[in-house]
Amino acid sequence: MREPAAGNATYFIFGATGDLAKRKLFPALYSLYREGKLGERFAVIGLARRPRTEEEFRGDVLRSIREFCRYKPESAQEWDRFAGHFTYQSLDIGNLEGFRALRELAEEVESRFNIGGNRLFYLALAPELFGTVSRNLKEGGMLESPGWHRLIIEKPFGYDYLSAKKLNEEIRQVFREEEIFRIDHYLGKEMVQNIEVIRFSNGFFEPLWNHRHIANVQITLAETVGIEDRGAYYENSGALRDMVQNHLLQMLTMIAMEPPSRLDPEDIRDEKVKVLRSIRPFRSPDDVMRRVVRGQYAAGMRNGKPLKGYREEDKVAPDSQTETFFAARMFVDNFRWAGVPFYVRTGKRLPVKATEIVIEFKNAPDNVLFAKRQVLQPNLLVIRINPMEGIYIKVNAKKPGNEPLIQPVAMEFCQSNQIGINTPEAYERLLHDAARGDSTYFTRWDELAAAWKLVDPIAGAWRENSGPLYFYPAGSWGPLEAEKLLRDDGFHWWPVNGQEEDNVIWVSNTQVTVK
Ligand code: BG6
Repeated sequence: MREPAAGNATYFIFGATGDLAKRKLFPALYSLYREGKLGERFAVIGLARRPRTEEEFRGDVLRSIREFCRYKPESAQEWDRFAGHFTYQSLDIGNLEGFRALRELAEEVESRFNIGGNRLFYLALAPELFGTVSRNLKEGGMLESPGWHRLIIEKPFGYDYLSAKKLNEEIRQVFREEEIFRIDHYLGKEMVQNIEVIRFSNGFFEPLWNHRHIANVQITLAETVGIEDRGAYYENSGALRDMVQNHLLQMLTMIAMEPPSRLDPEDIRDEKVKVLRSIRPFRSPDDVMRRVVRGQYAAGMRNGKPLKGYREEDKVAPDSQTETFFAARMFVDNFRWAGVPFYVRTGKRLPVKATEIVIEFKNAPDNVLFAKRQVLQPNLLVIRINPMEGIYIKVNAKKPGNEPLIQPVAMEFCQSNQIGINTPEAYERLLHDAARGDSTYFTRWDELAAAWKLVDPIAGAWRENSGPLYFYPAGSWGPLEAEKLLRDDGFHWWPVNGQEEDNVIWVSNTQVTVK
């Protein structure tokens, strides 16, 4: 029988009593188990400072799965079988002795479940602790088992290029680059992975995918939530470090990259790095002022309910300058994309939760048939990443009837509505990939370095107070200046969730039964 892909390994979850473990990691492990991808030769060791009995820990895991997992336990027996793989150790990560004890525990569970010494360390911890944990793993003998050793780390990976470099150097003293899996959970999303397939497996897109036919690209990551209870983190991060440096740039890169010559993780990531290096740098505070808009939400309303302003949130300075909204005009200065603006925006407390990428094509030339009859709408390809998953194409067609009118028609493939499709969560896919040793959808150091080098000058200009911080009412689409970025170029933001547009006929797959 084939070994389950993510089996034969011990998962060490550092930060096992935290939010990420509860919302994402335990549910991901349970889904993998239910799908037969873990088998029975695996173990999970939860680690955190807080004392917890094994039974309490398994109770935490059960609650997390009941609340957050797409599968629910089917019977007490089945649950006990899964939970039996979980154990807990209280650990002070500054204390080497604790790591020595962990080594004994690891060897014991590995022999109990017949695991060959493969170890995956998931650091759901503050990045300042990554270096200490790596060092103590080594000195505590945790990397001496037979089999592979891999480290998964979460963002924020540094605060700027220099701090990221320092952090990387600390980790690299212990782990090789190919053993480090830096998570950007957007890369685990179904539709982000689908970008490659849409681009490279459809003959009619590739010939058009360049500056001759594309007028502009728009990437929106809109969120309705505010900062919830993350004031302390967000004050230091802001939208630039929280969303732009990672998720937003990763998506831009996947839209803009050249087809790799092989589907090998390194070839794909080589192409992505080339894009990041081709993005036009923000050369001066003036350049930042011209091409970037930053905003912060003030008090506002949604659905008749009042929403607080950012400065009134817990653990936020009353005169905070932190941006909760970011929009920019970027360029990828290479042959394919010469002159095509990439408009990007992200914000908290916007009217909808939606991540979408719009590719706006150049108009067909005016010709005898259509000249002066009606203003044509451009063709669009829209990739809907989150929470709706799907794509649609907007084309022009004759309006049925005797009048010679043209009407936009949107042809939609909506994956979220498809029968029988239960998309795996990003973390499930990423854990599975890391356990298989596939690093395609993880960020390599040179990608990260290039992304920091791109955003650092923006943060630098803001530090010197270049470019105003605009306030926008919570529940609105952000500062009007973000509209102006496009208007100045003769474009506008296409409505997110285009179904809100008037006068468009929708042809959708929602009625179709998929066999
Ligand atoms: C995280 C950010 O990386 O992504 C959060 O830290 C943000 O601020 C979240 O809310 C958005 O992710 P998703 O998958 O809900 O779009």
